[in-house]
Amino acid sequence: MTTHPLTLNRRQALNRVAVAAMAFTNPLRVRAADLPALPSQHLPQTDANTYWTRIRQDQFLLPDDRIFLNNGSLGVTPRPVLQAMTSYLERAAAMDMEETPRWGYETLDPERSEFAEFLGCQKDELAFTHNCTEAMSTIANGLDLQAGDEVILTNQEHAGGTMCWRVQEKRRGIRVRVVEIPVTPREPGEITDRLISAIGSRTRVLSFSGIITTTGLILPVKQICQSAQEKGVISVVDGAHMDGQMPVNLRELGCDYFAGSPHKWMFAPAGCGFLYGRNNLLDRLWPAIASARWDDKEQLKSARFMMVGTNNRAIFEGMMAGLRFLKSLGPDAVYARLQHLANLVVRLAKERSYLELISSDDPRFYQAIAKVRFKSQNIQPVLDALKRNKIIFLGGNEIRLSAHIHTRPSDIETFFAVCDKVARA
Ligand SMILES: Cc1ncc(COP(=O)(O)O)c(C=O)c1O
Repeated sequence: MTTHPLTLNRRQALNRVAVAAMAFTNPLRVRAADLPALPSQHLPQTDANTYWTRIRQDQFLLPDDRIFLNNGSLGVTPRPVLQAMTSYLERAAAMDMEETPRWGYETLDPERSEFAEFLGCQKDELAFTHNCTEAMSTIANGLDLQAGDEVILTNQEHAGGTMCWRVQEKRRGIRVRVVEIPVTPREPGEITDRLISAIGSRTRVLSFSGIITTTGLILPVKQICQSAQEKGVISVVDGAHMDGQMPVNLRELGCDYFAGSPHKWMFAPAGCGFLYGRNNLLDRLWPAIASARWDDKEQLKSARFMMVGTNNRAIFEGMMAGLRFLKSLGPDAVYARLQHLANLVVRLAKERSYLELISSDDPRFYQAIAKVRFKSQNIQPVLDALKRNKIIFLGGNEIRLSAHIHTRPSDIETFFAVCDKVARA
């Protein structure tokens, strides 16, 4: 069993004292220069657990006794993100800046350029939103669909990727067709075949998650989008779980529209999303929220969808800091760590006879999320014990486990040890 890193070494203890002292004199004056540096980039190769444990201790505020396994709902804000937001708020309160401290009338060009580069698209194909739900609703509400037009969804969509189409069904008489896809497919092509073979003469849109919210199942997005395009059908990807969990290159994926949630896996604070439309495809959408220049496609392009009235710009300062934090860690190293942690979850779940692994155990189909089911009906004692041990997860009889880089392997072992104790009592 991996040792639980409850004890801080001298350097970490001093770091904490220094940051705490700054926070005591003025909680908003944690300067970027005072943030602990990342450990040597060579450490992950020689001692990955020590490296990531130090990242947790230095870069996150999570107390040692807290086990967070619900990143799929919302990520944990790291120190650099918190610092970026608080320092922006402080400068805004002092009006110590040229611009009006807000977003909602601004195009945020440098920020969108940097974000677009990371996502493999153009600045003018990208708009910042508050979350994925908003981006999905902008797409569904913005397309000129007519009564009788068909939209295909999978049977495993999140409400944020479903209800936006249901509104159109009720309001405009479009037809929403739900296609069943396997929970544990044998081959990626199985999912593509199910979805593409459902396309009929009235199908206009195929809308699906790149990673399924409940089970973490990875869909073959590129293959599905390419096949949809060949049939003249618009592809909409609910990518809430993709950005930050796995490499995303929007150009290569070939989807027409994509909705993202950087506040899940990209270290962004709650309230950050994005909307992507290939080439000029955002021009085809009607905005749901309109302010001045709502129709200025020529100059604003995708930024038309950011003319939504006054909003808190500190959130996007945090989102940019989250992106830079991810880049400084090395995205590939982060993705590899996420899968390493998920592999551990899958292995330990399969070793327990009182549990059933619902999600796929084929590494082609998962990255950071796994789902287990308790065979026993009476699981309240297990849930109570998990709560007592300060373990945070999503679910009840079925539990979704989603770990990020701050999760220690010992956290996952503790989760199963707590379950063992109650289930085997
Ligand atoms: C697949 C999927 N789509 C959409 C959403 C909604 O995301 P947000 O809360 O960022 O709008 C979620 C949230 O869990 C999700 O899992």
